[in-house]
Amino acid sequence: MSTYDASFRIWRGDAEGGELRDFTVEVHDGEVVLDIVHRLQATQASDLAVRWNCKAGKCGSCSAEVNGRPRLMCMTRMSTFERSETITVTPLRAFPVVRDLVTDVSFNYQKAREVPAFVPPEGVAPGAYRMQQIDVERSQEFRKCIECFLCQDTCHVVRDHEENKGAFAGPRFLMRVAELDMHPLDAAAEAGLDRSRTAQEEHGLGYCNITKCCTEVCPEGIRITDNALIPLKERAVDRKYDPLVWLGNKIRRR
Ligand code: SF4
Ligand code: F3S
Ligand code: FES
Repeated sequence: MSTYDASFRIWRGDAEGGELRDFTVEVHDGEVVLDIVHRLQATQASDLAVRWNCKAGKCGSCSAEVNGRPRLMCMTRMSTFERSETITVTPLRAFPVVRDLVTDVSFNYQKAREVPAFVPPEGVAPGAYRMQQIDVERSQEFRKCIECFLCQDTCHVVRDHEENKGAFAGPRFLMRVAELDMHPLDAAAEAGLDRSRTAQEEHGLGYCNITKCCTEVCPEGIRITDNALIPLKERAVDRKYDPLVWLGNKIRRR
């Protein structure tokens, strides 16, 4: 087994402010960035705050920025870096810092609450729901989400624009709206809720200019932009310019 000493630069501080601090830490074969952060805690900085749970890329807790890129620390192998490289680890930039590498991600829980839940079809018992396999597969991709919020962190609409947070749900929750809008059993429309229209008017779909940065950082490989956001935009436009919907809206407004 080979070992070497790596140079790390870690952000230390809290909501009041902080700074990057330099550390030299031992690295062993096969380790990931989270292993090194743990070794740092064990040997040099016992009060370093870091959030993690599964160490298997499944809980979405260990999100941070490694050399400026949003990543899961437990899934970022040390072998992807040159041994001579200084590796910089900072907290997620789009969310307020609690301490060191831990951020307050409650913005995301707020946005989750704003998306109306699945509306079950009337007169069909839960055990009797039937869907075609193609529809199951389409929403299955979105359900792989581990809520790491790396996509939310990277999206330029909110990354450096606190002022947009009120109006923009972010890729993760626009994807949730898309998933429900595509769901063949969702009866929201019958209950008077037009999901694609609310995506535009209440969840800020129009802010997304399909830069695809969210898709690039998703550790689950979900094609957020191509499979959720673009189809949702198309449905919103189709509904808005559908002549029958337009006529119906006109008549309703009188
Ligand atoms: Fe994380 Fe991907 Fe879910 Fe976004 S869509 S929260 S990047 S798993
Ligand atoms: Fe943002 Fe993704 Fe759209 S990064 S701009 S939500 S394609
Ligand atoms: Fe669970 Fe990294 S510790 S995803």
